[in-house]
Amino acid sequence: MELGYTPALDPGNPAFLADPYPTLSRLRETTPVFYDEVRERWFVTRHEDVRACLRDKRLGRNFRHVMAPAEIGVPPLDPRWQAFWDTERWSLLWLEPPDHTRIRKLVAAAFTPRSVEALREPVRSLAGEFLAPLTAAGEMELLYDYAQPFSIAVICRMLGVPLDRHRDLLDWSHRMVKMYEFDVPLEAAVAANDAAAEFRDYVHGLIRERRAHPQDDMVTALVGARVDGARLSDDEIVSTVIVLLNAGHEATVNTLGNGMLAFARHPDMWRRVVGGDVTAAAAVEEMIRFDPPLQLFERWVLADDVTVGDQSIPRGAKIALLFGAANRDPRMFDDPDAFDVSRPNADQHIGFGGGIHVCIGAPLARIELAASVEALRSGWGELELVEEPRRTGAFVIWGLEGLKLRRR
Ligand code: HEM
Repeated sequence: MELGYTPALDPGNPAFLADPYPTLSRLRETTPVFYDEVRERWFVTRHEDVRACLRDKRLGRNFRHVMAPAEIGVPPLDPRWQAFWDTERWSLLWLEPPDHTRIRKLVAAAFTPRSVEALREPVRSLAGEFLAPLTAAGEMELLYDYAQPFSIAVICRMLGVPLDRHRDLLDWSHRMVKMYEFDVPLEAAVAANDAAAEFRDYVHGLIRERRAHPQDDMVTALVGARVDGARLSDDEIVSTVIVLLNAGHEATVNTLGNGMLAFARHPDMWRRVVGGDVTAAAAVEEMIRFDPPLQLFERWVLADDVTVGDQSIPRGAKIALLFGAANRDPRMFDDPDAFDVSRPNADQHIGFGGGIHVCIGAPLARIELAASVEALRSGWGELELVEEPRRTGAFVIWGLEGLKLRRR
């Protein structure tokens, strides 16, 4: 998109995308909270401020429960993308209390520490199974050959979604998440909307199937669930299943890609993981801190008198929180641009968000990623890049096109 001005932060600019961190750092140190007039948003960069915004109940992922779009000058949702809006409508990421609380409680029932912990061993063996043939081959494209089918298998198993359509699930998800970027081109919006329609129809079929033949899985649990005597509607179940499936692999896959690229570029750090100086779990925290798979989340200001840092921000304004900038804040992390797996406070990263929308899948993501790092360190003790990887071209969902690795 031709902006006609030079924005402080331009996520479409190839030079920025090649390495966003110098720009993010400069902004964080010079204009920690700034307004972009064309994009009509406030950007927040410092760790303390991002964390405070995530926890602030006067900020919401949505505003429609308290304000009409016209009241704050927001155009109505584009009806051409109705199928996409329909799938978002009841997504946890689109809701605020009380609907958010009602649906989150049901989903949280499946993500209790005990039930997630019970997945640790099965996930570990799944990682081993997926990696074994690739280890034998000695070369792989980490994302396509391993991370995607592995993460999809884990979340599908949890939800009770058959694996036969796993490439469709990936394709629908990849098309849909393009809607979260800035300046979405027309063809990408059409593709996202078509994907949402196909995904919605697929999940409706699954709901009918589980209603007729209940299983011991999450889709069946959502179909049968009651909150205060009321069942979830089919539309609510569709949104919930889709957000879990999409969120259940996109960020996990990109964390592994971004993180293993960091290891390929810092072989001394990989050696420390392989040698057992640091646990896989600790390495995972630094992978997320150093190059987080989600760079930006937004909030609406729902109240008067909100201040972020020293900046007062009016009701109805939109705030974009820059996770990558916060994760490299020297006020929180010493030598923040260093990839250091022995960093004592890496787990203070912003990667999983905070407040009421804090990632519900974080415990599962941590188990999956640790299992992958463990499997990789036993079979891929010395590894190298086959070629320089390319970024996807997206900023919000931050990942690689692929990562070709070779065992040395
Ligand atoms: C490394 C992997 C992951 C990262 C970095 C990540 C990050 C995040 C972040 C930052 C949010 C909050 C967004 C906001 O505040 O606006 C979030 C929410 C969410 N995540 Fe994750 N996530 C990961 C993996 C997963 C997995 C494996 C699942 C599912 C099993 C999942 C399911 C969700 C859901 C359902 C929400 C919405 C929660 C709500 O709005 O109440 N995520 N995630």
